[in-house]
Amino acid sequence: MLSSFVFSLLLSFLSLVQADDFSDTGLTRASWIWNPEPNLQTTAPIGNVAFLKTFATPSGKSAISATIAVTADNNYTMWVNGQPIGSGDNWQTARFLTAQLNTSTNVFAVLATNQAAGAPVDANPAGMIAAITVHYADNSSDLILTDNSWLAASTIPANFTTAADVSAFTGAEVAATYGQGVWGTASNSLETPNTLNLTGSSWIWSTSSADINAPVGSIGFRKTITSPSGKTATSATILAAADNTFQLFLNDEYIGAPPHDDNGAATTGSWHFAQRFTVDLTEQTNAINIVATNFKAQADGGTTAAGLLAVVRVAYSDGSTQTFVSDASWLAGAATTTPLAFVAMSDNALVPAIVQVAYGSQPWGQLSIADALDAREVPGDNGPGDDSVSDSQSQSAQPGSSQSGGGSSSPTGSANVNAPAPTTNAAGPRIRAPPLLIPLLSFSVFGFSRLIL
Ligand SMILES: *[C@@H]1O[C@H](CO)[C@@H](O)[C@H](O)[C@H]1NC(C)=O
Ligand SMILES: *[C@@H]1O[C@H](CO)[C@@H](O)[C@H](O)[C@H]1NC(C)=O
Ligand SMILES: *[C@@H]1O[C@H](CO)[C@@H](O)[C@H](O)[C@H]1NC(C)=O
Ligand SMILES: *[C@@H]1O[C@H](CO)[C@@H](O)[C@H](O)[C@H]1NC(C)=O
Ligand SMILES: *[C@@H]1O[C@H](CO)[C@@H](O)[C@H](O)[C@H]1NC(C)=O
Repeated sequence: MLSSFVFSLLLSFLSLVQADDFSDTGLTRASWIWNPEPNLQTTAPIGNVAFLKTFATPSGKSAISATIAVTADNNYTMWVNGQPIGSGDNWQTARFLTAQLNTSTNVFAVLATNQAAGAPVDANPAGMIAAITVHYADNSSDLILTDNSWLAASTIPANFTTAADVSAFTGAEVAATYGQGVWGTASNSLETPNTLNLTGSSWIWSTSSADINAPVGSIGFRKTITSPSGKTATSATILAAADNTFQLFLNDEYIGAPPHDDNGAATTGSWHFAQRFTVDLTEQTNAINIVATNFKAQADGGTTAAGLLAVVRVAYSDGSTQTFVSDASWLAGAATTTPLAFVAMSDNALVPAIVQVAYGSQPWGQLSIADALDAREVPGDNGPGDDSVSDSQSQSAQPGSSQSGGGSSSPTGSANVNAPAPTTNAAGPRIRAPPLLIPLLSFSVFGFSRLIL
């Protein structure tokens, strides 16, 4: 277990870790890999390939976070310990993602698709490439590169993202080392990093002195944003962290949650990392609904500090942006039954949130930022070749199915309650949705399966 001191040092160090260019990420030393097939550089079959890399932390070290550069020809979704962290569909532009890690063992999973090239020959080159830097508590790091030590499968088992069953996997094949073959080096680039930070936001809760003590349980928070007349909102970047955890909704749609926090002494509370979501916006008025949950204190089973922190940057079609931070203009209300019951409450049943402390102040200090993928973008089926998964099995798991780790817990300690119990997904990469959304999401998962089959 890390002392908070070491942990804060680490977080300040991590905020300095930025890949300035493509080669800094380690990608130029990685290889394009795929499921073994003849002619991967010319006529790889179209369809999905799942990749897994399980990485054990060397003894004496504690993993804190990973910075990851990844891309695939043609597209990919990536998970860390079952938590979806990002996706992309332009092989020439690698994405740079950050994830919170478990202290000792971490599973990196990628689902990549080789899309049809079109007549006369559908088959075309296929490859996935990644460089993962694992950052340890002692400031050292390890670089994990895609190579033939990764596992690959084209018949993709249910639930593959946590490596629960790797019997269908085989060693991946190197299609080309970086720079060689069809992918070359000429037009490869790294996506411009999203620089939105937590500056100016405040920790809020529904009761005063929640930075010292607040009742155990869930409180919903809402910020309603209406586009100025003449402007069309196209997307939003949302940074959110809660002590102890949260579920984020855009209007009434489930977007995501931090990695599962088991409120254990040996793991780092997920609140140490604000989750960064990017969501598409289609409405003139959008409600950001966040249901935050305060766990019991570990030491005495009593109450503990509680807070929610958020920053929302809305992008408009004219290129302008507008930024909103958690403050007393947000509304709060007890989420007495379910998160969706809160989402359905009208504004006049809510009261203004109460500012506890400014971001950066104790007891929470500085946070790091981790990437999280909008649940609506997470594949819910393994696609062609996956006979083990039927659409009716494509249910959703509750939020909080993966685990993060690395050190100290909540500032005032915290314990085992109220953490949404992780349930698991019968089918495919896990979709994370709250219980009541299951029918709704299964339906859209069904739609998705139909689309790719
Ligand atoms: C992460 O740690 C948690 C608890 O320590 C464990 O349940 C989970 O399986 C771990 N995840 C991985 C991928 O090892
Ligand atoms: C990848 O391509 C497949 C097939 O076209 C599509 O169904 C899927 O949504 C794409 N995934 C991403 C992450 O772009
Ligand atoms: C880690 O590196 C940072 C930045 O170089 C430094 O400030 C910090 O003291 C180091 N921490 C440890 C535990 O060595
Ligand atoms: C955070 O963002 C603000 C405004 O975009 C910027 O001025 C500031 O330098 C950033 N702070 C850090 C620590 O990156
Ligand atoms: C999915 O994985 C979890 C643990 O990682 C396991 O408990 C569950 O049984 C798995 N489900 C299937 C269908 O394999």
